[in-house]
Amino acid sequence: PGEYRSAFRRLIVTQGDTEPASVEQQRLLGHTAPRLYELRNLVKVYVEEGRHLGALVYLLHAHFGRDGREEAEELLTRHSGDADKPRILGTFNEPMDNWLSFFMFTYFTDRDGKFQLKSFAESAFDPLARTTRFMLTEEAHHMFVGETGIGRVIKRTLEVMKELDTDNVDTLRKAGVIDLPTVQKFMNFWFTSSLDLFGSEASSNAANYFSNGIKGRPDEAKFADHVELESEMTIQVPDGKGGLKNETISTRNGMNEITRLEYVKDCNVGVTRWNMAIKRAGVDFELSLPNSRFRRSVGVWSAAHTDPQGNPISAAEFEARKDAWLPTDEDKTFIHSLMQRVTEPGKMAGWIAPPDRGINANAIEYEYVKL
Ligand SMILES: [Fe+2]
Ligand SMILES: [Fe+2]
Repeated sequence: PGEYRSAFRRLIVTQGDTEPASVEQQRLLGHTAPRLYELRNLVKVYVEEGRHLGALVYLLHAHFGRDGREEAEELLTRHSGDADKPRILGTFNEPMDNWLSFFMFTYFTDRDGKFQLKSFAESAFDPLARTTRFMLTEEAHHMFVGETGIGRVIKRTLEVMKELDTDNVDTLRKAGVIDLPTVQKFMNFWFTSSLDLFGSEASSNAANYFSNGIKGRPDEAKFADHVELESEMTIQVPDGKGGLKNETISTRNGMNEITRLEYVKDCNVGVTRWNMAIKRAGVDFELSLPNSRFRRSVGVWSAAHTDPQGNPISAAEFEARKDAWLPTDEDKTFIHSLMQRVTEPGKMAGWIAPPDRGINANAIEYEYVKL
């Protein structure tokens, strides 16, 4: 029982740590909100992440005795990006100083949250299962902010591309919109960072969590076998000679990878929708998620380099080509230059299209935040 308790506690602390971490990351974005509608959504995300922290800290206090109370206290001492006491998971220490990253984060990283919470929703520890089911309903809003945010950035870019009849990056940047290759680079960064949050492809910890009912797979009910005692699966690993090979592992050991694959599928839904908008605009460009072997810092691919298609390459080649795949300092400086605060009701920044509709039957121009 002691081992179970500490496993549960560790999972609750790790999830609990991400909730205030994301608010810490996003805390300065209000200064550069592109319109009041966006500012209102940002504040709603803060409130809900704060509530998620409260729900998980409650579990620590109510069910884990002194250890739980001490862990809850420790949560208050860590801060996103802190040199001495950072947040537990890498993605939650990444700086977030622009709204494109915020939309990518709410699309990709809050979606990681969705899949973690779905796994907890299958837990034998009923208070955890019930709390996470409630949290999932709010996570849906965060992902909506991300999906529609990225969608409206793309929509605005497509409008200006049509107006100026160009896909020239410099011309578009001068016109104050975010070119599609830059959208792709930010997507590559946040998607791959979020992939690491699922942990190693083969994991005996993950197997123990599953076999002991500490957590399940997302939507466990849709799987035929809930025990997976003898079953196996295949993963790709580096072959040590600059290539890749298949490796057979037990399904129990592969729980992280199974969850990650479900996550990737879910991420693709929005990408398909954005691509439809690009196609409808008659623009010859397609966004795509990089392969899950690309730019990994956790798991079997963390020591290897690949291109975005997942083909193994040398460290030197990665270094030579990475500026085409990931945001450069120049890209970041450009994005920062667009981040200007617009808070007059009815006005908005030029790099993002207005939302399709307002909130709670209010107009888009409604004064959503009283400053
Ligand atoms: Fe949350
Ligand atoms: Fe969230």
